[in-house]
Amino acid sequence: MTHARVSGTGGYLPEAILTNADLERLVDTTDEWIVERTGIRMRHVAAPGETTSDLALQASLRALDAAGLHAHDLDMILVATTTPDQIFPSTACLLQAKLGVGGCPAFDIQAVCSGFVYAVATADQFIRGGQCRHVLVVGAETLSRITDYSDRGNSILWGDGAGAVVLSAAKEPGVISTHLHADGAHRSLLEVPAGVSRTDVTDDKIRMEGRAVFKMAVNTLDQIVDETLAHNGIAKSELDWLVPHQANIRIIQATAKKLAMSMDQVVVTVDTHGNTSAASIPLALDVAVRDGRIRAGDLILTEAFGGGFTWGAALIRM
Ligand code: ACO
Repeated sequence: MTHARVSGTGGYLPEAILTNADLERLVDTTDEWIVERTGIRMRHVAAPGETTSDLALQASLRALDAAGLHAHDLDMILVATTTPDQIFPSTACLLQAKLGVGGCPAFDIQAVCSGFVYAVATADQFIRGGQCRHVLVVGAETLSRITDYSDRGNSILWGDGAGAVVLSAAKEPGVISTHLHADGAHRSLLEVPAGVSRTDVTDDKIRMEGRAVFKMAVNTLDQIVDETLAHNGIAKSELDWLVPHQANIRIIQATAKKLAMSMDQVVVTVDTHGNTSAASIPLALDVAVRDGRIRAGDLILTEAFGGGFTWGAALIRM
């Protein structure tokens, strides 16, 4: 039996930083309110001309280096993003060209904040099925390009960045199980209305009913965590780490409480990264791998909830 195992992680954050003090100058808000309601103190913002595939490239090179692999070794490239460089080609194809390789399949996955979990599940299937040995899985976003900096209800959340993992074929798991869901009924609660075929809409920034999304996120993450533990017949106490989607510290704390985990066992980057959508989990994972908290053999649970709505979880042995 072949399994998918994390062989390397990488992350990249653009240089420019947007602090809560900067936001105080843009909208009617305060550092105190943002920290208390979200846990966020700062977020990174891409430079003019710096695209999602540029961020993805830096994270990918670091993940490949950590895995001891070259881009030529890749059998597939997946990019989870909701802020692609352009309508087409896919950001995955643009990344492939920047990596200087060609031939292997490359495609984007669009599941907003759950995109990375969806991409891990996809890569896992191709590795388990024997079609791929090494898959590059990237979450990359330039959310600043679709943020309405006059809307205090959500502009305070978003950040730019990219995280990447290389999943490689191995005898031992690895990715133990993945759980994906979606419910398209709640579009108006969280969306960017502009699109290609809805030509009547010109608004192209994020709109969100924050309070309603918050409640659904907490309840849904409760369920996905239960589903994952029950599916694998494991107890909460067997988990070493929670690596959650970084949407809001209060949502993260609610999931940690549900799992009876101390916040010392939770990787938190929302304070300095903000919500980077599909990039947030691989960025957090990379931070905790590189600072030595997450080690080989640790059992980690990742979970995400985002626009769509989409949600999912992955149980991974590092
Ligand atoms: N500064 C000061 N006051 C504010 C701000 C702000 N930035 N934003 C809202 N307020 C005010 C509101 O106007 C409201 O005032 P009122 O009581 O006088 O009407 C009050 O603060 C409370 O507003 P709420 O919206 O209830 O604030 P809440 O505590 O819910 O926090 C937030 C808002 C941070 C957006 C939160 O709801 C949240 O994190 N939601 C979920 C985000 C999420 O998980 N999204 C899904 C993933 S992201 C993706 O998929 C792209």
